[in-house]
Amino acid sequence: MPIIDLRSDTVTKPTPEMRRAMYEAEVGDDVYGEDPTVNRLEAMASQRMGKEAAVYVASGTMANLVSGLTHCGRGDEAVVGHRSHMLLYEVASLAAFGGVQMRSVPNDDRGMLDPNTVEWAMRPDDAHQPRTAMVAVENTHNRCSGGVLDAEDIGVLAEIAHRHGARFHIDGARIWNAAVALGVPPAELARPADTVSFCLSKGLSCPVGSMVCGSSETIQRVRKNRKMVGGGMRQAGVIAAAGIVALETMVDRLAEDHDNAKRLARGLARLPGIGLDPSRVQSNIVIFDVQDRPAEAFIAALKEKGVLASFPEGGRVRMVTHYGINAEDIDEALNVAESVSRGKVSGRR
Ligand SMILES: Cc1ncc(COP(=O)(O)O)c(C=O)c1O
Repeated sequence: MPIIDLRSDTVTKPTPEMRRAMYEAEVGDDVYGEDPTVNRLEAMASQRMGKEAAVYVASGTMANLVSGLTHCGRGDEAVVGHRSHMLLYEVASLAAFGGVQMRSVPNDDRGMLDPNTVEWAMRPDDAHQPRTAMVAVENTHNRCSGGVLDAEDIGVLAEIAHRHGARFHIDGARIWNAAVALGVPPAELARPADTVSFCLSKGLSCPVGSMVCGSSETIQRVRKNRKMVGGGMRQAGVIAAAGIVALETMVDRLAEDHDNAKRLARGLARLPGIGLDPSRVQSNIVIFDVQDRPAEAFIAALKEKGVLASFPEGGRVRMVTHYGINAEDIDEALNVAESVSRGKVSGRR
């Protein structure tokens, strides 16, 4: 049975061109700054994000950790969204390694933070209170159905952070999706950020790797923090080579993933027992409610018929489109979802 894997865009496999580039990559010791392929990837990433410098790291989680460690000291506070990946899914790494307290403010359905609430969350200089050292946003927003923040949204939040002496970080794991959805260069979205991270290993289909971009001075400190957490890699050009191919060949095609996500959302919204507003789907993530049975039962029934989905939180199902999924797969997934949603309800809420 062919599997249609919609669990995440992290399941993407490297393209043939990436595999060739990895095989042929020129390498050196990257901790000495001598890996020409890593150096080229870092130069490309910083240029695309409109920043002076960039550093290659192992994962999106590490990118957020080393950025946070750079901006925050022990006992400082970081303001993040209540549905953010940094708060929910990174094993409290900033608290564990950096002694940083995370303060969550509500994300709206698109992943935006209310400027008035962020303003309110910024700590005054007061003997009783921690220093607010960082505000971080996520773009696109994973748990908010791949919602997109535009340059104006980001500018408003960055201005608040900076006015209060805090640094501003963008968890841009999927910022390329945001840029393609808006039809703007990613540098436009990253402009006010002190650090912006992005993942090569999601929609861009690399086997591994993320980037952190910022000013030369900031990235020098991020690089040191990367070494501190054990992320200094040696002949990393072997994996970085895929990142170069990704930036050269895999960005524009994200529009296809967005079209497929919209097609999927429109089809799902017509099915009985599914709660979904397709107009909310802006990029490659579709999240919906299952109204007549537990989400786990719905996902298990899909799996029996070869369609894989994940569930981000109680009662909801997530499907993500990516390089391994085409329009026919979407139609087939919809056929399966229809037969499951019209089938006998076996579980109870
Ligand atoms: C928004 C966001 N940030 C960070 C990460 C972490 O990336 P990684 O899995 O490479 O650690 C993810 C992963 O899904 C994510 O969705």
